[in-house]
Amino acid sequence: MNLKKLMTSLAGMCLLAGGLLAQNVCVSTPNTSLLLKAPKGGELRILYYGQKLTDADLKTFEADWGMDAAYPAYGQDWNCMKETAIAVKHPDGNLTLQLVVDEVLTTDTDHATETCIRLKDKLYPFYVNLCYRAYNDVDIIEAWTEITNCEKKPVVLNQFASAYLPIRRGDVWLSHLYGSWANEGQLVQEPLMPGATVVIKDKDGVRNSHAAHAEVMFSLDGRPRENEGRVIGAALCYGGNYKLRVETYDNDFHDFHGFFAGINEENSAYTLEKDETFVTPVLALTYSNEGLSGASRNFHRWGREYKLANGDKLRKILLNSWEAVYFDFNQEIMDQMMADIAEMGGELFVMDDGWFGGKYKRNTDNCALGDWVVNTEKLPEGIEGLLADAKKHGIKFGIWIEPEMTNTISELYEKHPDWVLEEPHRGILPGGRGGTQLVLDLSNPEVQDFVFGVVDNLMTKYPEIDYIKWDANMSITNHGSQYLPADRQSHLYIEYHRGLEKVCQRIRAKYPNLTMQACASGGGRANWGILPYFDEFWASDNTDALQRVYMQWGTSYFFPAIAMASHIGGVPNQLTFRVIPLKYRIDVAMSGRLGLEIQPKNMTDEEKALCKQAISEYKIIRPVVQQGDIYRLLSPYDKLGAASLMYVSPTKDKAVFYWWKTEHFMNQHLPRVPMAGLDANKLYKVHELNRIDNEPLSCEGKVYSGAYLMANGLELPYNHKVDYQKQSDYASRVLYLEAVED
Ligand code: GLA
Repeated sequence: MNLKKLMTSLAGMCLLAGGLLAQNVCVSTPNTSLLLKAPKGGELRILYYGQKLTDADLKTFEADWGMDAAYPAYGQDWNCMKETAIAVKHPDGNLTLQLVVDEVLTTDTDHATETCIRLKDKLYPFYVNLCYRAYNDVDIIEAWTEITNCEKKPVVLNQFASAYLPIRRGDVWLSHLYGSWANEGQLVQEPLMPGATVVIKDKDGVRNSHAAHAEVMFSLDGRPRENEGRVIGAALCYGGNYKLRVETYDNDFHDFHGFFAGINEENSAYTLEKDETFVTPVLALTYSNEGLSGASRNFHRWGREYKLANGDKLRKILLNSWEAVYFDFNQEIMDQMMADIAEMGGELFVMDDGWFGGKYKRNTDNCALGDWVVNTEKLPEGIEGLLADAKKHGIKFGIWIEPEMTNTISELYEKHPDWVLEEPHRGILPGGRGGTQLVLDLSNPEVQDFVFGVVDNLMTKYPEIDYIKWDANMSITNHGSQYLPADRQSHLYIEYHRGLEKVCQRIRAKYPNLTMQACASGGGRANWGILPYFDEFWASDNTDALQRVYMQWGTSYFFPAIAMASHIGGVPNQLTFRVIPLKYRIDVAMSGRLGLEIQPKNMTDEEKALCKQAISEYKIIRPVVQQGDIYRLLSPYDKLGAASLMYVSPTKDKAVFYWWKTEHFMNQHLPRVPMAGLDANKLYKVHELNRIDNEPLSCEGKVYSGAYLMANGLELPYNHKVDYQKQSDYASRVLYLEAVED
């Protein structure tokens, strides 16, 4: 990387000559600005975050009266009573900090400008760098903090947020995700009220997005709207325990919502050694005046360009064996599924759980994690045989692992009982899948080597493996590291994730092109801390298509379709009892990274043909879905009977429109959905994908202006015109729009 380092004295940093404004530091992206006031020797204050400020705006800029400290530190003055970003205990027992500006540094990199504002305590040799990375081509500012102890002895960090942002009180609404296993990513929207503190947090230890999510959006102009209004979005890029807090407080004459985000400090007090620097995770901030969807587009673009592993490469269409056969398979069954998915046009087959085990065979979920040798009773020709099958069928091959875990019934645990997390005096407490699962202690470098080795051994022996599904089915329920010293047990949650990141970095350095899925009992690892090492995540173990409309809607707030694995499941399956027609299941799965999770042998020829058609059509729309811009149109949460969203290519010459009925009544009257994101001046030809109706839609093959489509949308019948016998309540449509010449 071509690094141009500019060390600037505070005077040299001034944006504008003269007066108080000379102390201001403005961090900008193409359309947004963050303005800070950094008087040398004084408190760093945050003045503004929002639409980009021009030089003229900066000259006349008026801060909201009494704007706040940029990183409130506990110990003196008002900060004793208010929420704070940092709280420490010095070696002499003193609990106070008073941070003042020391210097400002900027560094230009290829894609961003990094600004580091160095703060120091007035009394102790204790330093806090507030860092901001502002991208040149996407509207994201990454904020993080580096905390350095130059005192003679260790300092205890009791609170260590990544960043803080005050938001002026008005009619501000918070959007965030909540849920549970098999019901992840449910959208919650609520107004921020004074007198109430919102805390969004996770304490799972291993995975962090089953229930709450580490990302939020603030709609500044009242009730959240998808395509209008000012929105601030924030995503904490961390795979471990987090805490986001919003406290509404009165700052003299005005109220503010103080937003803090960082690692969850509960049971995680961190002893910072002399001369050690603690680097917090990044908080990615965005601002859009194009509503919630606008903020999502910013996150998606940034994610694809700078965060997600291989974010610029289209994903393969795959068949995963889990819901198709669970543990019940052998080589012939795998070969049959590979033949079938290849026949349908798929590009990859993934063998899920159940392929391994030496002394203990993984035929149920209570054993053998850690014993990563092929079960030759099931697969006599080993992985080689499966790779040969895949080659024969002209597709790629992928495999499931769960490398951070073991079972009490495993050779690994017999050999290395010291590698598991265990409270030393109360005895082992297995749990999770099969009741026998244990979490390996990733703070231990030997365990890190082992976990790296699980991937490395597979890839060294079988370099043709194209895809790894990396699962994690257990929380930390047994607080105790056999590796960390007794007085550092509170570092466990943090060290676990440092260990995991080190392993992932080694894997990515050696295997940059390997496709990896982050799975964690379904959608437990949808976060921007883990995604730099993974190409995608499994959004949920629940493949029920109707429920997926809701889950995927919420997930799309922060994560792009390219990263969201979305499979056509069988009905009924392990979790779903209602029989949703294949057409609907396809139309929902096609709005993410398309895959199948179904035994093709159990499908009729007609169903296989429909899947084959969908796969070939998905290949046409794949670049638009996976690399386009999202516009959410009609929310399933608004209960209007249908949901709708679309993706538009960056040049606006192609778009895919999705519409799914979400409620089913006779003679239902559904709203017509105006489109968004098109070029008003372009003409678009409409073509329905995955058509099952006997008659084409009235709009089929017709040409409409972008302006018309965005003002009116198209009239869609509330059911499908098929044989009466095949009528169903579940209607859905996928329309492909292509710009045509006049
Ligand atoms: C987890 C995953 C599933 C599947 C099973 C296998 O539940 O979320 O997709 O891989 O494990 O045991």
